[in-house]
Amino acid sequence: MNDNHDYIRWFRDASPYINAHRGKTFVFHLGGEAVSHPNFQNIIADISLLASLGVRLVLVHGSAPQINQQIEAKGLASDYVGEVRITTPDLLPLVLEATGKVRADIEARLSMGRPGAPQSASRMTVVSGNFIKAKPLGIVDGVDYHHTGAVRKVNTEALRQQLDLGATVLLSHTGVSPSGEIFNVNSAEVATEIAVALLADKLIFFTGEDGILDDQQQTINELPVSEITPSEFSAYHPLRLAHNACTRGVDRCQIISFITDGALLEELFTRDGSGTQVTRTSYEKIRPATPDDISGIVDLIAPLEEQGILVRRSRELLESEYDRFTVIERDGMIVSCAALYPFENKAELACLATHPDYRDNDRGELLMKEIETQARRRGFEALFVLTTHTVHWFRERGFRQIALDDLPASRKSLYNYQRNSRLLEKPLS
Ligand SMILES: CC(C)(COP(=O)(O)OP(=O)(O)OC[C@H]1O[C@@H](n2cnc3c(N)ncnc32)[C@H](O)[C@@H]1OP(=O)(O)O)[C@@H](O)C(=O)NCCC(=O)NCCS
Repeated sequence: MNDNHDYIRWFRDASPYINAHRGKTFVFHLGGEAVSHPNFQNIIADISLLASLGVRLVLVHGSAPQINQQIEAKGLASDYVGEVRITTPDLLPLVLEATGKVRADIEARLSMGRPGAPQSASRMTVVSGNFIKAKPLGIVDGVDYHHTGAVRKVNTEALRQQLDLGATVLLSHTGVSPSGEIFNVNSAEVATEIAVALLADKLIFFTGEDGILDDQQQTINELPVSEITPSEFSAYHPLRLAHNACTRGVDRCQIISFITDGALLEELFTRDGSGTQVTRTSYEKIRPATPDDISGIVDLIAPLEEQGILVRRSRELLESEYDRFTVIERDGMIVSCAALYPFENKAELACLATHPDYRDNDRGELLMKEIETQARRRGFEALFVLTTHTVHWFRERGFRQIALDDLPASRKSLYNYQRNSRLLEKPLS
C-alpha cells in the first residue's frame, strides 16, 4: 500500500515536468564510454520513454573506446594532438567499422522499445543520415590531421522535418565533405553544433560523474553560463561545450551520470535533478499567462483544489480567464501563479499558489506585489482576498480583515457561505 502511495505521489509530482517537456527538442551526447557501460540499456529505455512522452530527440553517439579496440586488434596505434585523434587513411576504415557497429547496436536497442510497454506504445522510428557536413582540420602547426575534421554545417531543415514526423534522429560522429570525403569529428562537438543549429531546449551530456563536482566532491546543481570560464577547460569538456551551446542560443545543458541508473529521469522529472544544469538565462521569469500555460496552471492548482485550499476552477473556466493570471515560470514549468479579478472599484487577488517544492523563496510575495502593482496601475481602490488557510500570510503583508458588506456588491453576491472564507483587504491609495 505504502509503495503504491509513493508511486502515485511520484507520478503526480512528475506531471508538471511531463507537460513542460512535451514538444521540446533535446539533443543527447552519448559518449563511447556511456555506450559500453552496463547501465546503457537503462539509459536507452529512459530515452524511449521520453520519446513516448512527446519529446523530440536527437542522439549523437561517440565510439572512442570501440575505435581503440579495433585499432589494437589490428596491431595499430593512434597519434593524438591533445584530445584529438589523427585519423590517418589506415585508421579511417576502422573508425567507420566501429561507429557503424555502435550505431547499429543503439538502433537495435531503441527499436526494442521499453520493456513491458505495449507494442504500439513502444514503437519508435529511428533515422540516420547525412545531416552533417564536415570539413578537414587540415594541417595545423605542421601536423596533418588527415581525416580528422570539424562540423562545417548542419542540415537543420532536414533534421527538423524528421523530428516533425515524430522520428528520433540517431547520428554518428562522422561527416562528409561536399567533395565526398569522410571525416571523423568529435562526437560531443557534433552534438553541440546540432543543438545550436536546432536552438534545442536541452543539450544533455553523459559523464562518469554525477555531474560537475565542487571542491567538496558535491554535485553542483545549477551553474549560470556567466559563471563558466571556458578557457579553464579542455576543448571537449562538457562545461566548455555547454558554455558554447548556451551562449549561442541553447536554453539549458544538462551534465549527468551514465553510471547511475535513473539519473536521466531524476534530472528531468524532479526538482533538484541528479546532475548539473547549465543555464543560459536567469532561471525564472514572472510574466502574464498565455493559453500555453493552462495545463501548467491546472497541474499547480489541482492538488490545492482537492485539499479544499483553493476554489475549484474548471479547465474551461481557465481557458476563458487565463489572461487574468500572472505566472512564475521556471525551466518551462509553472511554479507559481496568481490572478487579478476586477469587481467595481476593487480588485480580488485570487488563486495565489506556489508549487510545494518551490515555496519559501519569496515567490508568493513577488506575485502578490505584482498583482498589487497591476491593481494600482488600473486605478482600483483596494485589493481584497478570500482565504481559508492563509489569513496570517496576508496579514503579515499588510492585509486587514474586513466584513462581507465591505466587498463590492457583485462579489458579495458570489460569496460561498459554506466555504466561510475570511475576507482581507489592502488599501491601494
Ligand atoms: C501561500 C503561498 C502562496 C506562499 O507561497 P510562497 O512562494 O512560499 O511564498 P513566500 O516565499 O513569499 O512566503 C513564504 C513564507 O510564508 C509562510 N507561510 C506559508 N503559508 C503560511 C500560512 N498559511 N500562514 C502564515 N504563513 C505562511 C512560510 O512559512 C514562509 O515563511 P518564512 O518566509 O518566514 O520562511 C503557498 O504557501 C501556497 O501555495 N499555499 C497554498 C495556496 C494558498 O493558500 N493560497 C492563498 C489563498 S488565495
